[in-house]
Amino acid sequence: MSGGEEHLSHSPEETRALGEQLGRQLQPGEVVAFSGDLGAGKTCMIQGVCAGLGIADQVNSPTFILINEYVGRASGQEVAVYHFDLYRLRSERELEALGAEEYFYGQGICLIEWPERAHAALPPRRREVVLEHCGPQSRRIVCRTLSPPHPQFPDGQ
Ligand SMILES: Nc1ncnc2c1ncn2[C@@H]1O[C@H](COP(=O)(O)OP(=O)(O)OP(=O)(O)O)[C@@H](O)[C@H]1O
Ligand SMILES: [Mg+2]
Repeated sequence: MSGGEEHLSHSPEETRALGEQLGRQLQPGEVVAFSGDLGAGKTCMIQGVCAGLGIADQVNSPTFILINEYVGRASGQEVAVYHFDLYRLRSERELEALGAEEYFYGQGICLIEWPERAHAALPPRRREVVLEHCGPQSRRIVCRTLSPPHPQFPDGQ
């Protein structure tokens, strides 16, 4: 696990700008899990990520359908961007029925709200963003990259 990058955002605009920076770094095939309470700013940050990926569409949470799909650009190529909101996911079986593994291990970029709902189905190699309320307008935002332990160093050293 690489060390986390910590930010303090004082407004939705600042959170969106952080998202945009992240979006510009993403490569095809990457998965980013956004955790945090209701209203922590996950969708707000994902709007920025999508802007950073060159997506001009309005990005809203996919409340009932669980996944929204956009076309973005990363490293000079077109890339499918999937925005998941798993808040209403009821079972791992439902996740399977969505074909989640094909998305998570595919060529597109996956941005996932409420990743806790997906449990073990999340790929071990992913980015994680954790958003926490620390005031009406302030949020603590930690970004880090998780990677599976190297086979030669099973303890992750
Ligand atoms: N610094 C901030 N960063 C992000 N959002 C903020 C901030 N300050 C206030 N807000 C407000 O908090 C709300 C965040 O809503 P948002 O839908 O992004 O949260 P969410 O984490 O996606 O919630 P949910 O779990 O319901 O999907 C918005 O109304 C936004 O205007
Ligand atoms: Mg949301």
